[in-house]
Amino acid sequence: MKYEIIPSGGLAEVTADAIVEGLYQEDQPKIGQGYLPEVTTKAVLAELRRREFDAKEGDVYVLPLLGFKQFKYLIVIGLGKKNNYDANQLRAVGAKAIKAANGYRAQKIVFHPDWLRKAKDLVGGIQALVEGIELGGYHFASYRKRTAAEQQKKHKAEEIVLMAEDRISRVKIEKGLELGKLFSEATILARDMVNTPSMDMHPEQMVSIAQSLAARGTNVTCKVFDKAGMEKLGMKASLAVGQGSKHEPRFVHLVYKPKQRSTKKIALIGKGLTFDSGGLSLKPADHMTDMKIDMAGAAAVIGVFKALPLLKPRVEVHGLFIAAENMPGGGAYRPGDVVAALDGTTIEVENTDAEGRITLADALSYAALRIKPQAMVDLATLTGAVIVALGSDISGLFCSNKELKTALVQAAGEAGETVWELPLYQPYKEQNKSKIADIRNVGGRPGGSITAALFLEKFTHDVPWAHIDVAGPVYAEKESKPEWVNGGTGWGVRLLLNYLRNL
Ligand code: BES
Ligand code: MN
Ligand code: ZN
Repeated sequence: MKYEIIPSGGLAEVTADAIVEGLYQEDQPKIGQGYLPEVTTKAVLAELRRREFDAKEGDVYVLPLLGFKQFKYLIVIGLGKKNNYDANQLRAVGAKAIKAANGYRAQKIVFHPDWLRKAKDLVGGIQALVEGIELGGYHFASYRKRTAAEQQKKHKAEEIVLMAEDRISRVKIEKGLELGKLFSEATILARDMVNTPSMDMHPEQMVSIAQSLAARGTNVTCKVFDKAGMEKLGMKASLAVGQGSKHEPRFVHLVYKPKQRSTKKIALIGKGLTFDSGGLSLKPADHMTDMKIDMAGAAAVIGVFKALPLLKPRVEVHGLFIAAENMPGGGAYRPGDVVAALDGTTIEVENTDAEGRITLADALSYAALRIKPQAMVDLATLTGAVIVALGSDISGLFCSNKELKTALVQAAGEAGETVWELPLYQPYKEQNKSKIADIRNVGGRPGGSITAALFLEKFTHDVPWAHIDVAGPVYAEKESKPEWVNGGTGWGVRLLLNYLRNL
């Protein structure tokens, strides 16, 4: 998307396919003021009244401005009560506007600034608006056959015009624009990875994407461990998970170092199962359909690393993931096997479909024992049970440390990504007990997300840690958030970026 910032007095010289106006309930009669001819304004108001538009938050109306040359459509978005304003609302406005505009094949869109004046934080407001525009307008089309004629045809928004009242607001808008693009690009990388079918997103492809982020002459480095390297580290548990696949596992360790030395060190860990068939404990077909998404945690970590060199937070960040494919086959690991994680803990495999926690046992141990960060956060599509508990919009947050929890909840709020705390209820550890090994990899149906989290806790070695079970919101069947489009959502990228930025 191309952006242009014009002085607000310059609206008369702009022609566009659509002009977007956000409307608070208090402001209804003011619509169209200053840029629409009086007759058109009257017609618009009459039409809005006819449709009983009351500026309810989230309402969208597209009105054709027949006979008016400067703009073809007026897109009116309800903002509700004035005191409801926050950045998340602007993200919704951007996304709704772009979706509406795309529905009418509008290519150039002007955002009328009146309602933006209320933004307490113009930089953050524009950032959110741009995120909405970029993420709501996202489209994953790599796998469609397209004729040359179809490729020629333009039917998506390409150009956005924003308006600045003065020099100071122009600088702020530019900054917001930069941040909005940065956060969106990082999110979109994660979306693309999640949307890519597993046949094209094997561990080796995840590795090359991670490496490409380090190869730009940035302060990001990327170490990759292949099967032999992982063996040396003692990651036998993860190797077991991947041994049924033709595509060998990899362990990836990304590091971002800020220019100014920092004493803060954070580790981000993502579950990176490029496909989860369940292994020999095979999933039923309808549960397997979407299992290309099982690397969404790792994809979020990779997305974060795309943005870090430009966002430049003053904190050392380590990004870790084990990429593996969970497949049945002659070489696959079996129910009943006992495998040892990097820290020596032995795990009885009761169900090969509870594979994520086995790979995370290695990754968390590596982070805690080798990197020794001040805090570590893992993102994992770990359990179906968390979807039963919280539905498909909300992630479950498990956290052993108050300060870290507070910081993550705040970061999530700013990103418009919803987390809800679930308990690390210690008595349920009983359910993870094995008769022959230190722990077993399933804890039964009751409290399935909790026992999975308690399993992970064993490998955190007292490092302040948070586990976010993202199985629900990483993939959208319904566009239940305006900035989501069907498919991968890139959930967690912006949460983590906010968390690092706020440190
Ligand atoms: N990747 C799945 C969890 C999942 C399910 C993610 C649905 C997204 C949507 C995980 O590896 C898994 O299979 N978990 C099992 C654990 C069980 C065998 C203890 C589950 O949730 O059924
Ligand atoms: Mn599984
Ligand atoms: Zn899985």
